[in-house]
Amino acid sequence: MTLKWRHDNNTPVSVTIQNPLLPPAEGDSSFGESLKLTGIPWLNRHGRLCHGTIKIDRGLLKIDGSAAAGDITTIPDHITEIIMPGYIDTHVHFRQPGQEYKEGIGNGCLAALAGGVTTVIDMPNTIPPTCTFAVLDEKRRLWQKLGRVGWGLFLGCNGCEQIPTPASLGIDPAGIAALKVFMARSGSCAAVSEPEILACLILNWPKIAVHAEDETLFPADTAGLDHSSRRPRAAVISALQILATSLELAQRQLGRVPECRLILLHASTCEELHWVRRMKDLGYDVRAETCPHYLHFTAEDQIKNGAQIQVNPPLRDATDQQALWQALADGTIDFVSSDHAPHAPTEKASANPPSGIPGIEKMWPLMALAAESGRISWRRALDLAAQNAAECYAMRDRGVIADGARADLVVLRRTSYKDVDMPRKVVTKAGYDAYRHLVLPWDVERVLIAGKTVWEQATSRAVPLAEEVYAVQSSC
Ligand code: DOR
Ligand code: ZN
Repeated sequence: MTLKWRHDNNTPVSVTIQNPLLPPAEGDSSFGESLKLTGIPWLNRHGRLCHGTIKIDRGLLKIDGSAAAGDITTIPDHITEIIMPGYIDTHVHFRQPGQEYKEGIGNGCLAALAGGVTTVIDMPNTIPPTCTFAVLDEKRRLWQKLGRVGWGLFLGCNGCEQIPTPASLGIDPAGIAALKVFMARSGSCAAVSEPEILACLILNWPKIAVHAEDETLFPADTAGLDHSSRRPRAAVISALQILATSLELAQRQLGRVPECRLILLHASTCEELHWVRRMKDLGYDVRAETCPHYLHFTAEDQIKNGAQIQVNPPLRDATDQQALWQALADGTIDFVSSDHAPHAPTEKASANPPSGIPGIEKMWPLMALAAESGRISWRRALDLAAQNAAECYAMRDRGVIADGARADLVVLRRTSYKDVDMPRKVVTKAGYDAYRHLVLPWDVERVLIAGKTVWEQATSRAVPLAEEVYAVQSSC
C-alpha cells in the first residue's frame, strides 16, 4: 500500500513506510566522468514513464530505455523513486551582495538543492542594485565563487533618468536572463511605469521580466489597511493597461509586432490571466509565471497567519486562486517560480515587516503534490517545473530528460508518515517553512548537476559545483 491522495484537500488516505534512503546507483562514482542510473524510472519530455538506464557521459545524458505509451495520469504505487529533470527556478532573491544576513548565495543554493532546484536566476534588487555593467560584473564574480547550482542573473532597470539600453550600458543581452522592470519600487530598485519609457525598453531589449503593480495607485494613507488593500488590485489592472499601451506604442514605431519577450512575473489575479491570454492572442510574445504562495494561500490566510506570508504582489482571493490552478492546467501560465524572498526572523517579527516568502526548498515537492493530487497532469508538471522556463530564458541545454541534455537530475522519493512526523531542517536563513502545513507525497532524495551527485538527503552533503548559464562576456 502506498500513499494515496484525495483530490479535494490533498490529505493522505492510506500510507506505507518506504525505505527512506536511496541505495547507491549502480556505477555511480558520484564525481566520476561517466555513470549509469539503473532501476529507477523517469519521465521523458512528453510525460511518459520510462524504464531502462540513464547513462551520463561528461555531464550529458544518453538514454537507453523504453517509454510507456501515453503520458501517465498517476505514477503506479509500486514506484517509490522516480527521476525528474532538475527544477529551474527563474525567480530568486539570494540577496548578495548587500544583505547576506538574510540569505546569501551559498546558503540560498543549499536551500535550492533541498528543493530539487538545479538552476536559478537571481533578481537585481540587491545592494547596490544590479543595474550597471560594473555591479553585474561584481555579482557575477560572487556567483562564480559561491554558487552551487547553475545560475543566471537579471539586470535591473533602476528608474529611467537615462533610458538603459544594451549599448549605453555596454551589456550584451545574451549574457543575462532578461531586463527586470519593477513598476513598484522594490528594495534597491526604483519603479518604471511610463508607457513611452517602457515602449523604448521593449524596442531595445530582447527580454523583459516585469513586476506589474503600478505604485502610483497605492493609497498614501495606509493606516488600518490590510496588506492587500495597501497594494490594491487596481494597481495591477493599471500596470496591465500601461504594459498593453507600451506594446502598442512599440508596435506602431516598428510597424510590426515587437520581438521583445515580455515575462509577466508572479501572476496572482484573474485580471492578469485574462491579459496574458489576450496578449498571446494578439501575437505578442508574452509569458507568465506564478509562484507557489498564490496557489496555496489567499489574502484571508495572510490576515490569519501574519507577516510570514506577507508578499508583494499581495495574496488575493479564492477566485483568483482557482483561476491560477486552471491556468496551470490549460497552459496560460508557463512556469512556476519560487520568488524565494527571505527576510531575517527579527525583521518579519517587527511592527513593519518586509514582504517576501521563502519557498525554494519545497519546489519539486510542491509541484509533485500538484500532479499527484490530480490538479495538473505530470506532463504539465514537467513543463511548469523546468521545460518552459528553459525555453523562455534560452537555456538550451537543460530542462528535460533526453539524449544530449545536461544531466541535471533529481530523484524524488515517496514520503511516509515518518517524513511527516520528522520534518526536514529548514535551510533558508528566513528560518521557517511556509508550506509546513502541507503533507507532501514526494520529497527530494538526491540531486545531480551535470551528472555529479551534488546533494543527498541522507547526508545533506552539497559539493560546490556551479556554472553560469549565460557564459558569454557581458561587454559588447
Ligand atoms: O514580496 C516581495 N519581496 N516582492 C518583491 O517584489 C520583492 C521581494 C523582496 O525582494 O523581498
Ligand atoms: Zn521577486
